[in-house]
Amino acid sequence: MKKNNQQNLVVIGHAIISRDCCIADSNGIMPESLISNKDWELFQKDLDESDLVILGRNSYEYFHQKKRKRLIPTSKIRDYYFENSDLCFFNPLDISLEKIINLYSSYPKKIAVAGGQRVYKLVFDEFFYTQFYLSIKMNQYMKNGQPLIDGLSTIQNIKIYMEERGMQVQEERKLDSETIQYIYTQF
Ligand SMILES: NC(=O)c1ccc[n+]([C@@H]2O[C@H](COP(=O)([O-])OP(=O)(O)OC[C@H]3O[C@@H](n4cnc5c(N)ncnc54)[C@H](OP(=O)(O)O)[C@@H]3O)[C@@H](O)[C@H]2O)c1
Repeated sequence: MKKNNQQNLVVIGHAIISRDCCIADSNGIMPESLISNKDWELFQKDLDESDLVILGRNSYEYFHQKKRKRLIPTSKIRDYYFENSDLCFFNPLDISLEKIINLYSSYPKKIAVAGGQRVYKLVFDEFFYTQFYLSIKMNQYMKNGQPLIDGLSTIQNIKIYMEERGMQVQEERKLDSETIQYIYTQF
């Protein structure tokens, strides 16, 4: 059950996947062919409008120059470490997501979850999403790629997974000739 301070909290997951539901290829690289300019533009806009962005350590290192308030799970430290008020690292084995978010002096109103795979799962398992923006590059396949959710390789599998977690498609929109976006919302 959501706590009082979580009642109005918006938590949005963002991912773009191949038709076979991967976020990266077999080498763990996200190929350029998986990018949709429209999806990227909407994604960046939503990150800019969020009070906090949760993303994996690798993604953080790749985009570390961005000036956003970021929360980074890592196994490389014990407990947590605020490098400054906008950048916090934490070890989910030592402190829960809920507790670390509670440490912020102003509780966020809107959180964006930018992945990768273990970060999406952490939020599904330990916290919640109010929405999940899932874009699918319909002409893209990534054999032996890194799935959005381990073990799920069809769009139908993902739909069932989302429904089991209280989410359903509220809107489906075409972002460009190759990309469809499903907006899952908590029901
Ligand atoms: N298509 C998409 O929408 C999308 C989204 C995100 C990422 N990607 C792509 O996916 C590829 C793979 O990403 P990635 O998984 O390497 O990057 P990542 O999720 O950005 O970073 C993974 C790292 O984050 C830390 N981490 C994540 N969850 C954790 C947990 N629950 N507990 C402890 N530490 C945790 C670990 O860091 P430590 O090693 O420090 O423990 C882990 O090695 C990249 O190419 C990236 O660009 C694609």
